[in-house]
Formats: sequence, C-alpha cells, structure tokens
Amino acid sequence: MDTTPVFKPLIGSDEIDAVRRSLEVGWLGMGKSVGEFEEALSEFLGLKDRFVVALSTGHAALHLAILACNFDQDDEIITPSFNNVADFQAIIASGCQPVFCDIEEQSLCIDPNKIERLIGPKTKAIIVMDYFCNIANHQEIDKIAKHYNLRVIHDAAHSFGSSYNGRKIGSFSDIAMFSFDPVKTITCIDGGALVVQTEEELNALREMRLIGMNQSVNSMYQNKRAWSYDVSKVGFRYHMSNPHASMGIAQLSKMDFITSSRRSSCERYSELLGDLDSVVLPRTEFKEVVPFLYYIRVDAKDRDELRTHLLESGIDTGFHWQPGHHFSLFSGSRAGDLSVTDKIASEIISLPLHSGMDLVTIDYVCKKISDFFNSK
Ligand SMILES: Cc1ncc(COP(=O)(O)O)c(C=O)c1O
Repeated sequence: MDTTPVFKPLIGSDEIDAVRRSLEVGWLGMGKSVGEFEEALSEFLGLKDRFVVALSTGHAALHLAILACNFDQDDEIITPSFNNVADFQAIIASGCQPVFCDIEEQSLCIDPNKIERLIGPKTKAIIVMDYFCNIANHQEIDKIAKHYNLRVIHDAAHSFGSSYNGRKIGSFSDIAMFSFDPVKTITCIDGGALVVQTEEELNALREMRLIGMNQSVNSMYQNKRAWSYDVSKVGFRYHMSNPHASMGIAQLSKMDFITSSRRSSCERYSELLGDLDSVVLPRTEFKEVVPFLYYIRVDAKDRDELRTHLLESGIDTGFHWQPGHHFSLFSGSRAGDLSVTDKIASEIISLPLHSGMDLVTIDYVCKKISDFFNSK
C-alpha cells in the first residue's frame, strides 16, 4: 500500500521545462531568472514602495533580516516558542538571544497579550509567524511594536498568497520573509525571500547574500558578473540561483489552482471532521488564506496511537512543532508562561495536504480518524 505523504510538491511539465531551459542557458548562479522571480513576486504581492530580495532558503532570509536590522550582540528577539528551528537558529547566528513567548489557543500564533511582559531593555524585535492556515494578530502586534519601538520580522513561510484584512501577506509588514523550500505552498526546490521597505536595507541584503561582494544587480541580472568589487560588510553565500528561480516562476503561475485546491481540501477536512467531539479543528473558513497545512488537535493521550493507526492505514502525519524551549540549546533562554504552547505541542497533528489533492483521499483520511474515535 502506498502511503499518503504529509507533503507533496506540485511538479508538472511547466516546472521541468522551466528548469531545463534554465540549465540550457548555462548560467547556473544568480542571474536573469532571479531578477525575474523578484519582479514576479513583487507583482504578485502588489508591492508599491517595497523591495523583494530572493535568497537561498527561508532560514537564510531570516538570518539576513536580523542582520539587516543592525542589532547589538545579545539583544533580544521575542519569538513564539511554537515556531520552526530556523527562526531560533537565525536569532543566535546573528548574535542575538531568543525570548520565548506563548501562543493563542485559537490561532496557534504568538499571543499579543503575553508579549509586553517579556519586553526588557535589550528587546529589539518581535518575530511573528503565521501558522499553517491561520494568520497572526498583526494589528495588535504592530501596535505593541510601535509603542516600544521594536522591529517586526514577519515569518510568512506558511502564508504565501494569503491576505490579512484584505491586504496581501508580505505587503504590509516591517520586514516579511517567505520560504520556498521543498514542502511549501510554492517551491523553488529551496529558496526564500525578504520584502523590505528601504533601499538601504535592500542594498545591504544584496551585498550580504553575495558573501559581501557589492556586485551590481544590473549586470548580474543579465547573467554577467564584475571582476572587481568592494567588500564592506559580513556576508554569506545566500543568493538564489537561476534554476531555482525559474522553478519559482513556473510555480507562481499556478497560484490560482494552488489556492483553490488547497482551500477546497481544507474545507472538506473541516466539513467531515466537524462532528467529532474528540477533535479540535482550525477555526477558519479559509476565505483569506492559502493553507500551507491542515492540522487537528486531539487529547495528548490519543495522539501517538492515532498517528500509528493512520500510518497503518497508509496515511502519514506529522507534528509541527517541538517548541523551542524544549531543545537543550535553548534551555537557558528567557521565556514567559508557555502553558498553551506546551499543551498544543502535545495535541497537534499535521494531516496530509497537497495542491491538487484528490478529495477521495481526504474522505479516506477523515474516515480513518472517525473509525479511530468510534472504536474507543
Ligand atoms: C515557519 C517557518 N519559518 C522558517 C522556515 C525555514 O524555511 P527554509 O526551510 O526555507 O529554510 C520554515 C521551514 O519549514 C518554517 O516553517
């Protein structure tokens, strides 16, 4: 029996042709396609006075976003503990310290009511992450950030294509970050991007992604390079390469299909699982979101048994995430009350969600979940 995976990329002849054409051009590093991908992203997001920088991964994007803010050693960044390891690692790689905040039980995103008590003299930024098919309370968080003069780094790895109060995610944040890794809503195989508001940050990011070389993008985006350049700041090999960017452009052209199919799949999950008393579902109607994944919450004592039952029925599941404060590397990090995080981390299950997923598969997953609870 084939197992239904949690993630499955949508790869068709468009992507394969795009990458093949890119390989045939023979300029495999950062070049024309990267410039085109940045433009395509900017157009898709409806950006006016903001700039897109394509990068090698979402983690690289977070790392550079923090460096671009020019914080001092050991400055603190508040992040939900319920977040991807990439965020915690980016914070410490930049010389800063994570401060772990709790999440709201409904959205599973950072709880604005628990942020203020964590703000101290060294606090410089808040990382706000949209979880799966939920969008964080950006309005409240922006108010807090403004009041305390903090930067906001919006981790939108899960919310590419979604909107918040009618505005496209990526078009309103202080700094927004996207990931296009193999499992994301759209993928570049690996890739990431930042959206920033100033030319100063744009130029700093362009240098930092090229190991500090101040190569002009005008020539790089014509598949050319300069042989002399200055290096004035620390940098990393974090640029995006042409074949990855061409893959991203091909994926971006499918956003309508990706959006409608992921929404219908989530609506189906919610419709079929809605009557089960033992299962807590996301409380969204999926109207403004392009869901990255669908989750359910079950009693912690049932979680592993249910996952095993599903796996035996040919359905893989995941759980996102182990909270940051559970990792030994961060055991000494400052943190507030994390009771909701601890509870959710023991209850959460990620169900399979793919673009173009057959609804019959969803019906089967839901039936197996119902069978599990009905046989108890
Ligand atoms: C919320 C979140 N932030 C950051 C990342 C890191 O992105 P990447 O895998 O592109 O480095 C991920 C990846 O899964 C993520 O889920």
